[in-house]
Amino acid sequence: MREILLKPELYKFKTFHEFIETFPLHERDLILTTGYLYDTFIKPYGAGIPVLRQDDFGAGEPTEEMLEGIFSSLDYDSYDRVVAIGGGTVMDLGKMLTVRRTGTINDLFFKRAELIREKKLIAIPTTCGTGSEVTSTSVAIVKDESGATTKLGLLSEDLIADTACLIPEFLTSLPHQAFSEALIDALIHAVEAFLSPRRATMTTDLFARGAIELILKGLRMAEEGHDLRQDYGEALLTASCYAGIAFLQAGCGTVHGLSYPLSGAYLVTHGASNYAFFEKVLETYQTYKPDGKLRELRSMICQIFGCEDDKALAVLAQAEAHLIPVKRLREYGVREGDLPVFTRSVFTNQKRLVDNSYVPLTEEMVEEIYRQVY
Ligand SMILES: [Fe+2]
Repeated sequence: MREILLKPELYKFKTFHEFIETFPLHERDLILTTGYLYDTFIKPYGAGIPVLRQDDFGAGEPTEEMLEGIFSSLDYDSYDRVVAIGGGTVMDLGKMLTVRRTGTINDLFFKRAELIREKKLIAIPTTCGTGSEVTSTSVAIVKDESGATTKLGLLSEDLIADTACLIPEFLTSLPHQAFSEALIDALIHAVEAFLSPRRATMTTDLFARGAIELILKGLRMAEEGHDLRQDYGEALLTASCYAGIAFLQAGCGTVHGLSYPLSGAYLVTHGASNYAFFEKVLETYQTYKPDGKLRELRSMICQIFGCEDDKALAVLAQAEAHLIPVKRLREYGVREGDLPVFTRSVFTNQKRLVDNSYVPLTEEMVEEIYRQVY
């Protein structure tokens, strides 16, 4: 079994200015970013460099329409290298801009078209969340055969960036909500990789532990009143990258699996959607398999928060809620009748994630989790 996959060259810079000194931009580059990031950080260095502002093509996470719009607005032969600077959406779109247009977006996501990587990619995450700068997944909201929208991950090692650069300066401009959702998503990546029953290896274990410990310390600091973006940004950017390295090999699991139908149908952000399920999924694991890696996870929580083992999961949930409150599904407009539909979608479209669950799941167990957070 392969121990680890780490393909990009990894760099760390304090500021975007430092990055430019090592990686000068040129006219065959394509900067992919958001209007806000471009105006705030990139403009002084971007003269004469083609730029594509993701938010000109729609808000929120990548959709089939957004991707088609971007594809058709671009001359594919006009660039050799994509410099993607942004959150998860920009990272995921950046990966898609490196592949030849062998079919529609729908064809690519449902594997009716071959994925052929032709362009270079520099990935610069501006949130401490997705770890997408090191992973092999591009996620989009697409229409399945029945015409229903669902979120799907396109998985290929050909999508991995050539270079990933961590620049904490970018975190300082993030709104609290986006920052917090991203941070909890990063914690979920690390925990799901750590608990992966068959795919975790000694190296993913190391990176997942590193990420979990850094993020738990951050949650503790937040409870003590720190603004993590200012006081702890570099550590959290490191943690989300560690988590990305861990789940690139070990995979995500149940939390992501249950989250995709919700975010696909109701356009709930990725982080918020995962967060809705995290506590209940861990409680379900606790019911069926409290020992093994879950015991180790509780022990990490106890060490950092100074609590007893039987309180660990509740203490974690409380620390997360201190950062941002968790919402119930009904608050996102979900109807009770959606719950069996979501459950079926999990077993139809998210099998790779469910198969990586810490405890084997049945449809009844999944629907029960949906009901508990409804
Ligand atoms: Fe995620």
